[in-house]
Amino acid sequence: MKVDAAVLFGIKEEYQIREIELDGPRDHEVLVELAASGMCHSDDHAVTGDLPCPFPTVAGHEGAGVVTEVGRDVTGLKPGDHVILHPVPNCGKCRWCSKGMAYLCDDGAFGLTGYAPDGTWRRRLDGENVGAYCQLGTFSPLTTVSETQVVKIDDDIPLHTAALIGCGVTTGFGAATTVGQVKPGDFVVVVGVGGVGSAAVQGARVAGASTIVAVDPIEFRREQALGFGATHTFASVEEAFDTVRDLTRGVMADVTIITVGVFHGDLAPVLALTSKGGRCVLTSITPVHETTANISLFDLGMMNKTLVGHIFGCANPRADFPRLLDLYRSGALLLDEMITTTYDLSQINEGVAAMHEGTNVRGVVTYK
Ligand SMILES: NC(=O)c1ccc[n+]([C@@H]2O[C@H](COP(=O)([O-])OP(=O)(O)OC[C@H]3O[C@@H](n4cnc5c(N)ncnc54)[C@H](O)[C@@H]3O)[C@@H](O)[C@H]2O)c1
Ligand SMILES: [Zn+2]
Ligand SMILES: [Zn+2]
Repeated sequence: MKVDAAVLFGIKEEYQIREIELDGPRDHEVLVELAASGMCHSDDHAVTGDLPCPFPTVAGHEGAGVVTEVGRDVTGLKPGDHVILHPVPNCGKCRWCSKGMAYLCDDGAFGLTGYAPDGTWRRRLDGENVGAYCQLGTFSPLTTVSETQVVKIDDDIPLHTAALIGCGVTTGFGAATTVGQVKPGDFVVVVGVGGVGSAAVQGARVAGASTIVAVDPIEFRREQALGFGATHTFASVEEAFDTVRDLTRGVMADVTIITVGVFHGDLAPVLALTSKGGRCVLTSITPVHETTANISLFDLGMMNKTLVGHIFGCANPRADFPRLLDLYRSGALLLDEMITTTYDLSQINEGVAAMHEGTNVRGVVTYK
C-alpha cells in the first residue's frame, strides 16, 4: 500500500515527506493506523549520525494507534485494538524476556538495522529498500510492526497522550523509580528536563522524593519542570552545586539522573552532586563513537557511589504500561501537560527545530 512518511536520506539532512510503499503484515506482524507519534531526542541521533542507521529511513519510535490488520499466527491482538508501540521488543522467549528483563530482549539487536529480524524489509521507495527506525517508523500514519513491539491498552486512554508512553515517559519515569530506586524523602537531581527528564522528575515525585532539583539551560524547560514536580531549578550543574550542598548539609543528592539531549561523558560534575553511597543514573545517549569520559574513579570508588546505565527505564512494557496509564488516570502522572505542541507530518522539521530550541516539552506529530 502507498503511504506518506517522513524519510531521512542522510546525516544532518531534514526529513522529506515522500510517498513510500508499505507491505502489509506478515506472520506475527500487525498493521497499525497511528493516531500520533512523539518526537523523542533519540530520533535525532539518527539525523546527526550519533546512532548510525541505514538510509533512507523512516524515523519515529514513540507511537500509539489502532490495529487495522493482523498477520498469520498473531494472538492477543485484533483489528480495532488500541495499542502503544515501543522501540524495545518483547519476544517473550529469549533469556532476557524469560528473566523479566524484556528491555534487553535479544530482538533489540535489530533496532538500528532498518529490516526485520528475518532480514526482510517492509518499505520501499523507487524500488529501493527503506528502513524503519527501531523497526517502528512512526513518522508515518501507517506502519507494519512485529507483535512483539505492541501493547494493547484500554480504549478510554486518548491515543495522542498514550504515544508518550511508547518511549520517553516510560524511560524517564523508570530512570527515577526502577533504576534510580528513589525512595520517600530522597533528594533527587535531574540534569536535562526535556521529554525524558520531565518524566524523570515525575517519577521522583511519585516515588516520594522530598526535593527535586531540575537542571536545564533553557528557561522554558525549567519553568515547565516546576509544574511536573521540581522544587528548585538551575541553569547548570555548576550553578546547582552550592544549593544542593547547603540544602543537604553537605550530604548531596541521593539520586542524580542524566537526561540531557546528547551526553559527551562529563560525568565528574554530576557525580560530585551525588552523595556517598548514592546512585547516578545515565539515561542520555552518547554518540556511539565516543568512548572516553571525564570521571573521578576515586570519587566513584572511595565514596561508594553507583553509576548505572539503562535502556528504556528497565521497563517491561506489558507490565509497566498499564501501571503508568493508571497513574495517568489518577492524575499522578501528567502526560497531557507534556504535549506542548502538535504538528502535522508536513511540519515535522519545525518540531525538530523546536526540540533543539527547547520551545516545547514534547512535540507530537498527530495523524487524526
Ligand atoms: N536510555 C534510553 O533508553 C533512552 C530512551 C529515550 C531517550 N534517551 C535519551 O535521553 C536523552 C533525552 O531525551 P529527550 O527526548 O528528553 O531530549 P530533549 O531534547 O527533549 O531534552 C534534552 C534536554 O537537555 C537539556 N540539556 C542539554 N544540555 C544540557 C546540559 N549540559 N545540562 C543540563 N541540561 C542540558 C536541553 O536543554 C533539553 O531541555 C537523549 O539523549 C535521548 O536519546 C535514552
Ligand atoms: Zn525514544
Ligand atoms: Zn526476548
